[in-house]
Amino acid sequence: MNDRHLIELTVNGEEHELLVEARETLVDVLRHRVGATGTHVACEHGICGACTVLVDGEPTRSCLVLGVMADGSEVRTVESLADEGGLNDLQEAFTDCHSLQCGFCTPGMLMLAEGGIPHLESSDREEIRELVSANLCRCTGYETIVDAVGRVARHRRGETPDTSEGAPA
Ligand code: FES
Ligand code: FES
Repeated sequence: MNDRHLIELTVNGEEHELLVEARETLVDVLRHRVGATGTHVACEHGICGACTVLVDGEPTRSCLVLGVMADGSEVRTVESLADEGGLNDLQEAFTDCHSLQCGFCTPGMLMLAEGGIPHLESSDREEIRELVSANLCRCTGYETIVDAVGRVARHRRGETPDTSEGAPA
């Protein structure tokens, strides 16, 4: 017998009432019930970070959270970043810095950065390297991801960009 529960989730500013099974993970709820398929899922046991979304503002591996545990939460997925069809500053920086190849890790990386940048104590490259090391990328070698996140972190902190990088859009 299916054990179903009614939960309320706000996803990218929209309120949803959803009848979910007790065993359903948040990433499955987002992808299959809400239709937010920008969130990727791979390892399903908390290693890769491909499923990272923001839950109440904090980067969260959505394969490790059950939908019922997220009841009442505010969730942001990668779909929330682009505004009126345009890319946000992080997405622009990933494009400009060539921070993706296959792109499978990218939604999770973007949400990790979006939620992590406000908590950085500095825009020091080592600190950004530490932040993005939470998620796996098999393609890029990380340097270009660190470039992009650093560029946005400096811009959002009001710091002068390196002359080599220009200002994010
Ligand atoms: S799919 Fe969630 S951490 Fe890998
Ligand atoms: S761009 Fe392919 S895994 Fe990161």
